[in-house]
Parts: sequence; C-alpha cells; structure tokens
Amino acid sequence: MSKEDIYILGIESSCDDTAAAVLKNDEVLSNCISNQEIHKKYGGVVPELASRAHLSNIIPVVSQALSDAKINPEMLSAISFTKGPGLMGSLLVGTEFSKALGLSLNIPVIEVNHMQAHLLVHYIKSDKKKPKFPFLGITVSGGHTQFVIVHNHLEMEIIGETLDDAIGEAFDKCGKIIGLDYPAGPEIDNLAKEGDFNKFNFPIPKVEGFNISYSGTKTAFMNFINNSIQKDSKFIERNKVDICASIQKNLIDNLILKIEYAAKTKNINRIVIGGGVSANSYLKDSLELKSKQNNWEVFIPPLSYTTDNAAMIGIVGYLKYIRGLFSNYNSIASPRLAFK
Ligand code: KG4
Ligand code: ZN
Repeated sequence: MSKEDIYILGIESSCDDTAAAVLKNDEVLSNCISNQEIHKKYGGVVPELASRAHLSNIIPVVSQALSDAKINPEMLSAISFTKGPGLMGSLLVGTEFSKALGLSLNIPVIEVNHMQAHLLVHYIKSDKKKPKFPFLGITVSGGHTQFVIVHNHLEMEIIGETLDDAIGEAFDKCGKIIGLDYPAGPEIDNLAKEGDFNKFNFPIPKVEGFNISYSGTKTAFMNFINNSIQKDSKFIERNKVDICASIQKNLIDNLILKIEYAAKTKNINRIVIGGGVSANSYLKDSLELKSKQNNWEVFIPPLSYTTDNAAMIGIVGYLKYIRGLFSNYNSIASPRLAFK
C-alpha cells in the first residue's frame, strides 16, 4: 500500500440493487451486488419493499466488498454514495449508512449522481481506451433515457431526454404484456436471438429535436398483442421469439435514429453509452454497424458495469476525491437530483 493510494468505498442503493465496491485509485478491487428477487412477483419494483431489503442487505454487501478487496475499514480514504436520482426510501438507506460509517471512521463522504456514474464508469482502470472529451453520452436505463454532451469528467449538459417512458421501462412493460418477469429487458434480448426482427412492425414516434418518446410504442404494442390474441389465443406462445425480436428492433432503432441525429447536429463522433440497456446485444450490434458507417468511436461498458453497480459510484468518488470535492455529513438523498 503506497501512501498516496486512495481507497474509496462506493455504495449504490438507488433502486432495487444494493451494491458496494472498493476501488484503489481508479482500479476496482471488489464489486459486490445483492439483487432483490422479491419484485419479480409484482412485475416491477415496489419502493417500500426495496427500501426494507436495502436495510437488510447493506451491511452484508459492504462487509463482502471490504473482505473481497482485503481492506480494513480503517484503510478507507472516503466513502462515495448515490445521492440521486432514484427512489427516496432506497436512496435514504445508502446515504444514511454512508454518512454514519464516514463519521465513525472520520473520513470524508462524497455525493454521486447515479446517471453521471453510468457514463463515468468508462474511466475505471482497464486495458481499454478511455473516451476523450467532449463526447455524446447516452444513458439508457429503467428510469432514464438521456442525451448528454459531456465536456469533462464533471461537466455535463443534457440536450434531450425521453418525454415519457425510459427505454428500459419500455422493454420491461412490453415484456410484462407478453408475460415475462421483471426486468424483462435481458429476457427479450435472449429470446430475440432466435427471432425474426422484421416479422412485426410497430411505429417509431416522431419527436422534434433531441427528445425521444416510448409510450406510444408501448400502447401500439399492447393493442397489437390484444388484437392478435383475439384471433389466436396461442399467438404469444407461437410467436414469442419473433415478437421479442421485432419490439427490440423498434425500441433500439428509435434510439439509434436519435443518436445519429444528435451526433450529426452537434458534430460529435465519440459516442459513449451507459446504463442497463447498454447490455443489449442488438444495441451493441447496431452501434458497431453505425460506427463503421458514420466513422464513430463507440464506447460500451463491460457487461458487469452496465446495470446498476457500485464500481461506477466508486470511480466518481475517486474523480471527485482527487479534486477535493467532498460533501458534508448533512448531505441528503435527492430522488430527482439533476446533472450539475
Ligand atoms: O441501469 P439499470 O440497472 O437501473 C436503472 O438505473 O434503472 O437499468 C435497468 C434496466 C431495466 O429496465 C432492464 O430491463 C434493462 O435495464 N436491461 C436490458 C438488458 N439488460 C438490462 N434491456 C435490454 N436488453 C438487455 N440485455
Ligand atoms: Zn442505473
């Protein structure tokens, strides 16, 4: 352990995953997560159940992260935590726990914006190239779909976002309509691999500028499924893989069209993606194709850093630590926290 090394404990609890990670500078030493299975049977996250589960998970997850990293709490330089955006009850568990632990160890705490973290996850130490600034950041998760000009590590400007549902939410809701468990995104992705992307067509909502919309597609999809079931009660079973491939193509094509428009209008060819939906294989293939056609440099996070994780909270903690950007112990959770 060099004297200059900085050890950050990152804590994430904005939605339904309790996660903790330890970083030594920009290097991840451990990255632990406890997923909450309880929400599956309700078809979506139940906020009250999520915060109760965070309460029972947080100590075991943090202990695991410290022991995997072979770190004593006394070695920590700071604790970074998700201040928002997210569910109030869930955020409260992480913020209050972090402040209490920070106070007891007498070390600084650092607030992190969850959406910024989804983009800055690309600065974790690895043998891959890091995105240079400025770049077009796209956050695609269960709660957000945003187009962001990222000027530097901490200066970001939202130029557009969804007017209604987030792309991950659209995956989850369409999945629910055909009887898939929450979260449906990964299963749609899997089933789509066997399906025909062009079998069924759904409209892509037309939205001006850099904003995007998904709720019309969801309604069109629901009507299509209901009408088809009336004609054939086994329609879903008979066509599941083609339905998944077709709706996945629609949701991702909508996003790609907007990315192309934003990149062209803003004259940026570095495209950086983050958030749960960046795990989607059709999105990755489409971006690869577009990168060749448009001469883009595309950055997609490794799978373990796509959905919610604490390593991304740790890297932002590190980037703020080296700039002396600490918070105080009065910091409070902020469900609608905006980009700075
Ligand atoms: O970033 P994340 O873990 O949590 C939020 O901040 O919301 O994103 C979760 C979202 C869910 O909607 C989930 O269905 C979606 O990411 N997702 C996917 C895939 N893996 C996760 N959507 C499409 N394809 C995937 N492979
Ligand atoms: Zn997220």
